[in-house]
Amino acid sequence: MTDLKSKKKGRILSGMRPTGKLHLGNYVGALRNWVNLQDEYDCFFFIADWHALTTDYADTSRIKQSSLEVMIDYLAAGLDPERSTLFLQSHLPQHAELHLLFSMITPLGWLERVPTYKEQRENIKDKDLSTYGFLGYPLLQSADILMYQANFVPVGEDQVPHVELTREVARRFNQFYPRKVSAGSSQPDRDVVFPEPKPLLTPAAKLPGTDGRKMSKSYNNTILLSEPEESLRAKLKTMVTDPARVRRSDPGDPDKCPVGDLHKIFSTAETMAKVYEGCRTAGIGCIECKHWAADSLWKVLEPIQQRRAQFVSDPKLAWDILEAGSAKARVAAEATMKEVRAAANLSLEYEPPHNGENL
Ligand code: TRP
Ligand code: SF4
Repeated sequence: MTDLKSKKKGRILSGMRPTGKLHLGNYVGALRNWVNLQDEYDCFFFIADWHALTTDYADTSRIKQSSLEVMIDYLAAGLDPERSTLFLQSHLPQHAELHLLFSMITPLGWLERVPTYKEQRENIKDKDLSTYGFLGYPLLQSADILMYQANFVPVGEDQVPHVELTREVARRFNQFYPRKVSAGSSQPDRDVVFPEPKPLLTPAAKLPGTDGRKMSKSYNNTILLSEPEESLRAKLKTMVTDPARVRRSDPGDPDKCPVGDLHKIFSTAETMAKVYEGCRTAGIGCIECKHWAADSLWKVLEPIQQRRAQFVSDPKLAWDILEAGSAKARVAAEATMKEVRAAANLSLEYEPPHNGENL
């Protein structure tokens, strides 16, 4: 056990907000990568349900259900509770405690200049985001990451500024509050409480939705991991193609076609070669090409849905795994918080008055 751990290249933490059933964009942009990291790293993956409240505080009715749906898709996609710690953020009040301590030392300007903050304030008009919690979103994320003293955070490009902020917060905390090594502790393997985490950039595969725009829940153009085969094939049938291919006899270009993009991500080299050749010479029709794309996608989705079935018929099974993971995470989180509290002179233990000082 310890032997296995020591062979690993470090600790990883990442998470998603509970958006409900996950789609292929979530898979290609994150989940697939996480699944592959499980053997090489000591992995923590979680569901950021408190983060959902930063924008959806006015209606929390779907959060719990959505968290369960995400967990089921985590397991279906191949996250393995034997190898990774899978947990739910709100089951660990330690995250709130660390977030609070960070809020004491973080200058407002650091949060105000996070790009996602400005963007979302401008783009999301139907919700009042002039809240303390929304400004603090990336700081809560810093608490998530630093709680597990993660070395790497697998994220997409858009999240890199959040990891950068996390590094600054770690540095500032370490400066204010040097690590105290308790007398009983064996070897001080770190000289600071928080190591600075690095982003592990997920190679950004361009995954188009059925309308050709980036696949996203808010565009209503997704293919779910739980998409039934019939419905997958129907969605592909209506998917947009290279606009230059109006008639069957017009040649096209897979590099200008969303279906071509799907092939690039999911199809074998042989199929890819047939697509390039057939499309550019008008030797194949789009209907046939889409059939092949559907076949390739189904090859990925079928095993996911096979794993998914047991949790669909017994969702409590997934919930129980999530709770067991949260209990495991709690051990790591408490160990960190002990160090944090001691460093900030907030430890729970009694300490005698300093020499010569009156009470
Ligand atoms: N902000 C991330 C997102 O929107 C979710 C998230 C919350 C996260 N806490 C995290 C990701 C910690 C990585 C590490 O996708
Ligand atoms: Fe797109 Fe395939 Fe049609 Fe070419 S043949 S335009 S790649 S769907």
